[in-house]
Amino acid sequence: MKKTSNIRAHAEEQYGKELTALKKEKSTPKPDNWVLSPQQVSTYILGGKAKDGTEIEPKYFGQKRLVELAIATLITDRALLLIGVPGTAKTWLSEHLAAAISGDSTQLIQGTSGTGEDAIRYGWNYAKLLQDGPSEEALVPSPIMRAMQAGRIARIEELTRIPSDVQDALITVLSEKILPVAELGVEIRAQAGFNIIATANDRDKGIHELSSALQRRFNTVKLPLPASLEEELDIVSYRVQKLSKLKKGKGTKIGLEEIKKLITVFRELRSGRSEDGEIKLKSPSSTLSTAEAISAIHSTQSMAYYFEHRADDPLPMAEHLVGAVVKDARQDLKIFEEYLETVVKKRKGWERLYEACKSLVNAS
Ligand SMILES: Nc1ncnc2c1ncn2[C@@H]1O[C@H](COP(=O)(O)OP(=O)(O)OP(=O)(O)O)[C@@H](O)[C@H]1O
Ligand SMILES: [Mg+2]
Repeated sequence: MKKTSNIRAHAEEQYGKELTALKKEKSTPKPDNWVLSPQQVSTYILGGKAKDGTEIEPKYFGQKRLVELAIATLITDRALLLIGVPGTAKTWLSEHLAAAISGDSTQLIQGTSGTGEDAIRYGWNYAKLLQDGPSEEALVPSPIMRAMQAGRIARIEELTRIPSDVQDALITVLSEKILPVAELGVEIRAQAGFNIIATANDRDKGIHELSSALQRRFNTVKLPLPASLEEELDIVSYRVQKLSKLKKGKGTKIGLEEIKKLITVFRELRSGRSEDGEIKLKSPSSTLSTAEAISAIHSTQSMAYYFEHRADDPLPMAEHLVGAVVKDARQDLKIFEEYLETVVKKRKGWERLYEACKSLVNAS
């Protein structure tokens, strides 16, 4: 049989070894149906060492306090809402929390403006429904229903994209911990260990605010952007190294100094200020998140590898940089050009990047 190779493994598959090592440890008490204790969940997220010596990689780089707050919320009867600007690892943290707490991160609902109540509650297999009428066999459980029955964590992505009346279907689930199935005259009762982690972006357009009834049933944890250049550099270089499956060879590595330049540009344009705080800048319409920096570097590296660019050729990175910054050509191009002239041009060691960016801006 042909060997299959999934593009992406679930967190619990990819880090199965770490989870097993932590699970084997003698630990502080675990909440009912949790795979790990809250402290072990924190170690899994922030990194460390299991008692048998297994190295636990850090998954989330950030404040321990926030991670502990998120974990503690999930022990209580409130659900967890992770908010923040794009690319602050909301989805990433939610997946890893679910993997560490329930050993399963797959009970997932992707919120969109088309998400209906049946995606949150349950649907029907219409062939069976028409043949035999409503029955348990004809019921199609939602990820939330399955998580309730198994005592696991369910995840809802982009909660505020879901229309408000559909969002409110969550109120009974969260406050009563039941899901009534009126057609069968039964109710599904949540088992211990059930809870919900939702994520929401606080910059998106077209969002539906949570009703205050629903808001009260969530504890909100806001994930910040990395506080300093060094912190962001750590996150980006670590994640790029993890993503990169390229064989070692010529031109595959982008030096730390180059990555630092790209992140500096992102940070300056994002904040509207040069790193030294002296020059005020206009911000482009693009998001320029940490996640985009990771993707730009990773993509530059892949290009350099497969097309055998010279490691010190500044053009591929400049291409990705311009691509990330200039989303709306009319206004962003001007803003970027101004930034090149007022900041980049004068920086020592940035001459080649300046030239490369300039040539691309002139050509567009
Ligand atoms: N503080 C961080 N620690 C670890 N990884 C991070 C951090 N910030 C960003 N990342 C990385 O950024 C990538 C994207 O993060 P993710 O998709 O979770 O963002 P998000 O907040 O859900 O964004 P969006 O609002 O666009 O959905 C992930 O690969 C993640 O590893
Ligand atoms: Mg997300």
